[in-house]
Amino acid sequence: MALINKAIFPVAGLGTRFLPATKAQPKEMLPVVDKPLIQYAVEEAYAAGIRQMIFVNGRNKRAIPDHFDTAFELETELEAAGKKELLAMVHSIKPDDMECVYIRQPKALGLGHAVLCAQCVVVNEPFAVLLADDLMVGKPPVLKQMVDQFSEWQASILAVQEVPAEHTKRYGIVAGSPISDRLMDLTHMVEKPAPEDAPSRLAVAGRYILTPGVFREIATQPRGVGGEIQLTDGIAALMRREKVFAYRYEGKRYDCGSKEGFLQANVELALAHPELGGSFREYLRGLEF
Ligand code: UTP
Repeated sequence: MALINKAIFPVAGLGTRFLPATKAQPKEMLPVVDKPLIQYAVEEAYAAGIRQMIFVNGRNKRAIPDHFDTAFELETELEAAGKKELLAMVHSIKPDDMECVYIRQPKALGLGHAVLCAQCVVVNEPFAVLLADDLMVGKPPVLKQMVDQFSEWQASILAVQEVPAEHTKRYGIVAGSPISDRLMDLTHMVEKPAPEDAPSRLAVAGRYILTPGVFREIATQPRGVGGEIQLTDGIAALMRREKVFAYRYEGKRYDCGSKEGFLQANVELALAHPELGGSFREYLRGLEF
C-alpha cells in the first residue's frame, strides 16, 4: 500500500498582494508571531509522516534554503553563550531524518507549472502539495487528517472548506457526490468561478494529496485562468481517469497570502501563544476602537 513520503512546497509565486514586503523575499518567509509561514507548513508535513520536503523556488531563492540549513555562526554563538533552549529550537527546524530538496521554477508560470517542476524528484509516487501561505490550524494537523483518508482510499484528496457565495471567485470550487459527512467523490472543479457559475460553495484550500498521474494531465493542459498553467485544470482532467476526493477538514485556515488573513493569523496565534498570549490579550483589551 502506497504511503506519502514526499511533499512539494511551491514557493515561487510573485506575492504581488504583499508588496513591498515580498520585493526581496518570498511571502512564505513572512513570520506569523515568531515563525515563517513555510516552517508551519513543513512542520505540518512532518507531523503527517512526510520526510522528504521538495521546495520549488523562484527568484529570491536564498531565504528558504538558508532557513532550513545549518546556521553555523548562530549555533556557535548560542553554544558559547550556553543558550541551550534556543540552540535546541534552532536545531529542531530541520530534524536529522528530514531531507530538503530545492528545485528552481525558472518563471512564475503558475501553480500547476510549479508542481510539474518537481516531477523529476517525485517520479511515480503519490505526494502532498502544501501552499504555505494557507496557514492551517487543526488537531490532528490537517495534512495528517488527509494522509489518514489516503490510507483508506488510495486516491487523490483535496482539502476543502465551505466559503460564502461572494468568495467563490477567489478559489477552486468543487462538485460531486457525498460519500460521508466529510468526504465527497468529485465530478468536476472550476477555478475562481463567479457566484452564479459556482457548482458549490466548497473551496479548495492549499493542501492536496495527488497521485503521480496528475503530472501528465498538467503537462497536457492549455494555459488556464490568467494565462497560468493551473493545478486545478490538471486535477479536473485527472478526475476523468481516476477517483479524486474532496475532504472537508477539521480546523481553521488563514489566508496569509492576503493582508487581512495574515493579520488575523498573527492576532489569533499570538493569543494562543504560551508565553505571549496572556499579556497580548491584556494589550488588546486596553485598545480603544
Ligand atoms: P498565488 O496564487 O497566491 O500567487 O500562489 P502568488 O504569486 O504567490 O501571490 P499574488 O497573488 O501575486 O499575491 C499560490 C501558491 O503557488 C505558488 C505560490 O508561491 C503560492 O504558494 N506559485 C504560484 C508558484 O510556486 N509558482 C507560480 O508560478 C505561481
